[in-house]
Amino acid sequence: MAVLFHCEGWPEDAWLAQFARQAPDLDVRPSGDAGDPEEIEYAFVWKPSSGLLERFANLKLIISAGAGVDHLLSLPALPDVPVSRVVDADLTTRMGEYIAQQALMHLRRQQDFSAFQARREWRGDITPPTARQVSAGIMGLGELGRKAARTLRLLGFDVAGWSRTPRTLDGVRCFSGEDQLGAFLGRTDILACLLPLTEMTRGILNLDLFKRLKRGGALGGPVLINAGRGGLQRDADILAALESGLLKAASLDVFETEPLPHDSPLWAHPDVIITPHVAAVSSPEAVTAYALRQIRRVENGQEAENLVRRARGY
Ligand code: NDP
Ligand code: OXD
Repeated sequence: MAVLFHCEGWPEDAWLAQFARQAPDLDVRPSGDAGDPEEIEYAFVWKPSSGLLERFANLKLIISAGAGVDHLLSLPALPDVPVSRVVDADLTTRMGEYIAQQALMHLRRQQDFSAFQARREWRGDITPPTARQVSAGIMGLGELGRKAARTLRLLGFDVAGWSRTPRTLDGVRCFSGEDQLGAFLGRTDILACLLPLTEMTRGILNLDLFKRLKRGGALGGPVLINAGRGGLQRDADILAALESGLLKAASLDVFETEPLPHDSPLWAHPDVIITPHVAAVSSPEAVTAYALRQIRRVENGQEAENLVRRARGY
């Protein structure tokens, strides 16, 4: 039995060393030196190229090295074996921190104060609102969305969430489905998106949706935070919404094209905070331990955890 390792753009040697440290007897092979394909029973992958996984006829489990699985489900011929995706406290915590940080940056008008500082301007005449005056809405109430909702609640925000199927979460007003989207958006000052990218959600963060957000709130206009996937948003619509005042500001961790092209006007926009898809990068130790646990489970005749449901797309 052997494990295939293929994570596009990741430092292969460091990851293989991590696997060797945690499981010295396990045969983990990089895709460039995979040996006999019949021996590969597990694949730990991030953005594998089309055609790679089909080479391994004896695969028992594919482990997505990240939480998102759009990189796998978009493959034209993904082998018909279970797919487990990373759900991990370290990753979830980091996402909670990112969403809280961005919400507070906008609440406390940090972009304005940073601009004043750059001009050595002492402006004590601005009093930001407090969190309880601001409604935050989380799109996606999964592992990451629930953590974000709880974290914003702790900070005092008035929090709501929106999901595909009905959910309940202590202290959070929960909305679901297309017919409750309008009510959810209509109460939202800070919209934080933690949806997966699926056929249903592609391009959902567009001008039509921005028009449905709450007007007249304490921040002076709605704010968008997207840490889900770039394919959820239309970059051009975000720029247009910022120009027309439909959006007051945006924090973007993900983009339609990554890396964000050098000439994108988003880079220099004064109301946009950009991070390079790092909202929740989990530690190699934690992700390796997760993968090894899944392999052990399957070897012991158990089902792997956090299996993707292909029909729903996440
Ligand atoms: P989950 O699968 O746990 O949760 C997904 C949530 O989205 C669920 O609440 C689900 O609804 C909801 N959802 C899915 N489709 C729809 C729809 N059509 N309409 C309304 N709600 C919908 O995912 P995670 O929370 O673990 O992760 C979410 C995403 O975050 C990942 O897919 C990935 O793209 C992104 N991510 C980004 C990172 C970064 O660094 N920027 C790091 C890690 C992940 P329901 O509850 O009804 O199933
Ligand atoms: C993930 C990511 O899906 O880092 O885990 O985007």
